[in-house]
Amino acid sequence: MDSFEGKLAVVTGGGSGMGRELVRQLAAQGCSVAACDLNADSVAAAAAVARSDAPPGTQVTAHTCDVSDEAQVLRFRDELLERHDSDHVDLVFSNAGIGGAGSFVRDGRAEWERTFAIDWWGVYYCARAFLPLLIASGDGVLVNTSSVNGFWATLGPGMPNSAYSTAKFAVKGFSEALIEDLRSNAPQVRVAVVMPGHVGTDIIANTLRAHGLPEPERMTDDQVTELIPAELAPEGASPDDLRRLLVQANAGFRDNAPLSAAEAAAIILDGVRSGAWRILVGEDAEKLDEAVRARPEAAYDYDQLGRWPDTVPGAGAQEG
Ligand SMILES: NC(=O)c1ccc[n+]([C@@H]2O[C@H](COP(=O)([O-])OP(=O)(O)OC[C@H]3O[C@@H](n4cnc5c(N)ncnc54)[C@H](O)[C@@H]3O)[C@@H](O)[C@H]2O)c1
Repeated sequence: MDSFEGKLAVVTGGGSGMGRELVRQLAAQGCSVAACDLNADSVAAAAAVARSDAPPGTQVTAHTCDVSDEAQVLRFRDELLERHDSDHVDLVFSNAGIGGAGSFVRDGRAEWERTFAIDWWGVYYCARAFLPLLIASGDGVLVNTSSVNGFWATLGPGMPNSAYSTAKFAVKGFSEALIEDLRSNAPQVRVAVVMPGHVGTDIIANTLRAHGLPEPERMTDDQVTELIPAELAPEGASPDDLRRLLVQANAGFRDNAPLSAAEAAAIILDGVRSGAWRILVGEDAEKLDEAVRARPEAAYDYDQLGRWPDTVPGAGAQEG
């Protein structure tokens, strides 16, 4: 696929971060896009911006969908085919994802399963729903977003990331398994797996929302102290301090990243155009991949592994 012009792409989680940038950049290159998100307002706004940047004839539609609910994914599929008057799609970016439930030991089961359901089942349901339409394209690409946490299952010392890593390993394994499956059974479709390092987005704030929590300013004392347990909080921190800490964590993660969402989306699109099946996003992701491959036994011995993740601002925050 040399160009996205005249194609139809599906982008999940298109209302923020890398998804919003994928929608904008695809549309700017003359690719029609159907974008969905949990958050109806943000995806509508992202589609409006993308439309204003797009050449004539490029259609960008916004849809509300929770990808962890198969019925909603099927409704999204039917809705977009009707609105784009199409019987196929050319590209599917399964990008929607959240963090949370870092600890299997400490965090609640419902939170753990919510994170896993979005990050794994969301990708699975989209593959089920859209594969026949990618086959119908005759030249389809399925692009699944994993993470460096798809090959390295921690955020560093004291920062387990269990639900997210389990799901992201599954996304990577599924995508790799599809390589031979598609080659054997549907050679008109290929698959790529995206593994970003730290990219500056609002994923911390969006994660809280996806877990049903209000903005930090409106959280109750119980909500905020459950979210940041005493052993992780600065000594003597009050609930108000914790609320401020959450706002700062999101801003810090977004504003101190080595790569912006726009830069990350450009890397992803270059990778897809080049035919790569494995798209590492950012120098931090490349270095970590090299380190873990070179010394798998040292993966969880942070001193031995090297300077990562100290080199990555925000790696000690909640996402990866
Ligand atoms: N930002 C990073 O550093 C980083 C690193 C590695 C991987 N990733 C992955 O990249 C992808 C994009 O993340 P981002 O950083 O741009 O985050 P983001 O929060 O800015 O964007 C994700 C979007 O997905 C939406 N979403 C969440 N749950 C959804 C659901 N159930 N159904 C539909 N939409 C849903 C959110 O509302 C949000 O608009 C995610 O899969 C994330 O896990 C991010």
